[in-house]
Amino acid sequence: MQFLSNNMKNIPPSKTMAITDKARKLIASGEDVIDLSSGEPDFDTVSTASEAGMKAIQAGVTKYTTGDGTAELKQAIQEKFARDNLLSYELNQISVGAGAKQVMYNALAATLNPKDEVIIPTPYWVSYPVMVSMCGGTPVFADCFADTDFVLTPQELAKRLTPNTKWVILNYPNNPMGALASKEDLEKLADVLRQHPNVNIITDDIYELLIFSDTKFHTLAQVAPDLYDRILTVNGMSKGYAMTGWRIGYAAGRADLIKAMSKIQSQITANPSSIGQAAATQALKAKPTHAQGWCDTFRKRRDMIVSALNAIDGVTCETPMGAFYAFPNVNGLMGRTTPDGKQISNTDELAEYWLDEAKVAVVPGIAFGAPENLRLSYAAKTEHVEEAAARIRVACEKLEL
Ligand SMILES: Cc1ncc(COP(=O)(O)O)c(C=O)c1O
Repeated sequence: MQFLSNNMKNIPPSKTMAITDKARKLIASGEDVIDLSSGEPDFDTVSTASEAGMKAIQAGVTKYTTGDGTAELKQAIQEKFARDNLLSYELNQISVGAGAKQVMYNALAATLNPKDEVIIPTPYWVSYPVMVSMCGGTPVFADCFADTDFVLTPQELAKRLTPNTKWVILNYPNNPMGALASKEDLEKLADVLRQHPNVNIITDDIYELLIFSDTKFHTLAQVAPDLYDRILTVNGMSKGYAMTGWRIGYAAGRADLIKAMSKIQSQITANPSSIGQAAATQALKAKPTHAQGWCDTFRKRRDMIVSALNAIDGVTCETPMGAFYAFPNVNGLMGRTTPDGKQISNTDELAEYWLDEAKVAVVPGIAFGAPENLRLSYAAKTEHVEEAAARIRVACEKLEL
């Protein structure tokens, strides 16, 4: 009798984890590895949050809370949406989970039936297609192109829509490219979506605060208020507040969907951490002014790494507008041979070579639906990013044509 469920076939081994694990093992064994594979800011959690978290522990706020978030946190989220995004939600339209990841999974699990399709622009965050498949839906990939800064175009969206489309997932700034949709880009997508009243949209705004471009952040529900009922606006504390370990993410949308998401969560994990919620409540009450300094640092690192990558023969790198990843195309290095005689034929092998030769850990692009690219996170100390770029260059120069 088969032991593991058929659903396990929907979960490919995580390349991100595989490289991070190998890098961690090398570091533990004393190797001087620079880890550019992880997806979390290298800054400390904002102090308002960590102080509130410590107070919560001392005050005994360590018990179960309401399943999908305390009223205090939901109020803070309500205020945040009104203040930063000009969006108005009632408390029963807001759900809090253990990360944006959990709330998105809840939403898909609550809505997908067999044959339902979910449009995912490529390159994408690794978890979207896996979550869709695990919930019984079918991921449908929409290509994004350099001439439109890797933002989904209305034409490409229209091409992928079918009567089975249940959701479209938008993520700007995105992981892994740092692509950012302008207000006009979103308006054009909204024009297409208006013609398909049965299609719903998840906007994953987790990198909202990490933008270093003149293009201002907009979220679809703000740009297209007439689509409000069809949009689930997702956000969280992980990236913009350096709170990855606290596990707090949230979503706002139509009340019946939020209720269904909450039901699912109540049977699986129940409430997210009471301490994390207390911390997030205080952090969200304040305007996110801390982000400016972080963005200045990220911008400097971005400029440095993008120009260093573009200076390597065989590598080209677009300039990301947000998040903290560079996503160079390394197709020009394919077919080259390493000093010990191995021919590099894909980005998995190149990532392995960079780890072995340059002692730099990055993630192969296939995990993001982009087999010609690699993802380098510059959420690492500036001097480490500089050193990594120099080492990668030397390793690439050792490859023979
Ligand atoms: C695009 C995107 N969405 C969501 C998440 C997950 O966020 P959380 O930590 O809130 O679950 C990530 C984390 O890497 C991400 O890159």
